[in-house]
Amino acid sequence: MNRTAILVGCAELPSGDGDDDAVVPALTSLGFSVSWAAWDSGFDFASADAVILRATWDYASRRAEFLSWCESVPSLVNSADVVRWNTDKSYLVELSDAGLPVVPTSLVPPGSPASFPSSDFVVKPSVGAGSRGAARFAAGADATAHVAALHAEGHTAMVQPYQSSVDVSGELALVYLGGIFSHAFTKAAMLGSTMDESGLYLTEKLAPASPSMEALALAEDVLDAASALLGILRAELLYARVDVVSGADGKPLLLELELTEPSLGFGQADAAAAMRFASAVRQQLA
Ligand SMILES: Nc1ncnc2c1ncn2[C@@H]1O[C@H](COP(=O)(O)OP(=O)(O)O)[C@@H](O)[C@H]1O
Ligand SMILES: [Mg+2]
Repeated sequence: MNRTAILVGCAELPSGDGDDDAVVPALTSLGFSVSWAAWDSGFDFASADAVILRATWDYASRRAEFLSWCESVPSLVNSADVVRWNTDKSYLVELSDAGLPVVPTSLVPPGSPASFPSSDFVVKPSVGAGSRGAARFAAGADATAHVAALHAEGHTAMVQPYQSSVDVSGELALVYLGGIFSHAFTKAAMLGSTMDESGLYLTEKLAPASPSMEALALAEDVLDAASALLGILRAELLYARVDVVSGADGKPLLLELELTEPSLGFGQADAAAAMRFASAVRQQLA
């Protein structure tokens, strides 16, 4: 078998941030020729068998251009339809409407006035990655200027109560490969962290984790609900990362469902995780 897999980064990180390094030998051992390319480099993606978004963390300010590039790549996994739906965090409202426990989220599109929760809260762009544009405010603070700054950049603002459990236990990321649970890791509280030298994301403190049954059950429900909204089978998702936090009552809440270009935390996982990823790539092509 001689197939090609392209891992996709961006101009600042054309071969990712290192987290996916173990994926290259795993894919190679399963018969793929593997290379990295930045999405907007003019590389010929059309002839590859699998084009896999891994570190395209610069799309937030030019989402339309990014989506039209996604649509031009026939063998993109996850697919352009999935990426279109998932690059705007308004999907959280759809998942909440579908009955899932989601961090309470209100959307403030340009032109609409914002109102803020009476507790500490977060204002962030609905299209964003790497924590950029996300800011924490104390109860009673006026975040109108931050909302206006996001609007001026063309963003819809999202307002959420700050989930203070994040300061103690961080958020839990549950990674699914080909729709099946693979591994989990925690990410310490981000707001207050410093920017990586690439300028694309706040630096992250990660650690391996074993998720509770409750968190796993929530992730299962989230994946089924998202697949239903997208009209696909869950197995069609090469990768998915379900980020959960504990609510005030200790029960898990969905903070983010990452189907676009999540760090998959291979550095925090068992050595076989990269092979599970490579196996899931083959399954997509079968
Ligand atoms: N409602 C919230 N409560 C607590 N922390 C939050 C909240 N929203 C965002 N954060 C913090 O900001 C980070 C980035 O927000 P997130 O919604 O995950 O967007 P992205 O990772 O796409 O930039 C999170 O990892 C978390 O540390
Ligand atoms: Mg996140």
